[in-house]
Amino acid sequence: MTKGLIIFGGARGIGAATAEVFIDRGWHVVIADVLSDEGSRLAQRLGERAHFVACDVAVPSDIAGAFDAATQALPRVAAVFNNVGIARYGTVDALSLADWELTLRVNVTAQFLAAGHAVRIFREQGGGVIVNTASILGHASQKTTAAYAASKAAVMGLTRTIAIDHARENIRCVSISPGTIDTPLVRIAAEQFIDRSPDELRAQWAAAHPVNRLGSPAEVAATVYFLISDEAAFITGSDILIDGGIRSEAYA
Ligand SMILES: NC(=O)c1ccc[n+]([C@@H]2O[C@H](COP(=O)([O-])OP(=O)(O)OC[C@H]3O[C@@H](n4cnc5c(N)ncnc54)[C@H](O)[C@@H]3O)[C@@H](O)[C@H]2O)c1
Repeated sequence: MTKGLIIFGGARGIGAATAEVFIDRGWHVVIADVLSDEGSRLAQRLGERAHFVACDVAVPSDIAGAFDAATQALPRVAAVFNNVGIARYGTVDALSLADWELTLRVNVTAQFLAAGHAVRIFREQGGGVIVNTASILGHASQKTTAAYAASKAAVMGLTRTIAIDHARENIRCVSISPGTIDTPLVRIAAEQFIDRSPDELRAQWAAAHPVNRLGSPAEVAATVYFLISDEAAFITGSDILIDGGIRSEAYA
């Protein structure tokens, strides 16, 4: 039977690249995102098996609405990609409580809520797969990323627990931890530094990876495709690093 995937945060970057891969391989895809123009344009470009739903994952009823829309639009919701992530920078004495809470809400609480909807649907139909996006910064940190790093470490704990709670219902849950991937998020992050140009910074970030380059959204999308496929049927609860070797190096 034709399968359907919901991508939260699918309008651009890693999510958009993942939508393309799944559409190319015959899937139906619902792109749920706050960026209505970009998301609608992408769905239109990808053709009739792609659908856009406006959704702010900070709003629980929007997440429920995306699942409602997906169960109408998709032949079967076989997988969910929880890919939304935002970053707010600041040391703990400077970061506002509002920014801390928003980061946790968007990066973790939304995954918890979406997983709840997904499990209820998957249980009815005999299984399914959830992929949660964590980050290399859930494994090792970078200055001023307290909120983001805490949220991404939490994603891995959430993922492991979903995996073991629902393994016997044929539901798998895995997380991915990208290194630096060349997306709008990274380009915007590079523009926040005033002492170096965005191009200098991106070159420096590339050099920090043993492979000496940034990753591409397509490389992450290919991994997500594999993890959702039946080829990965024995993988659950794991976090998969897609990081150009950066986590493996203690000293450059
Ligand atoms: N790019 C990297 O280097 C990198 C590295 C590690 C982890 N990640 C993670 O990968 C994921 C995707 O990152 P990306 O680089 O493609 O980012 P991006 O900003 O290019 O794309 C993220 C998508 O999420 C959407 N989004 C943001 N807030 C939302 C909200 N409240 N509700 C619904 N949609 C919302 C954005 O509109 C966008 O389409 C994130 O979870 C990010 O933390 C990225």
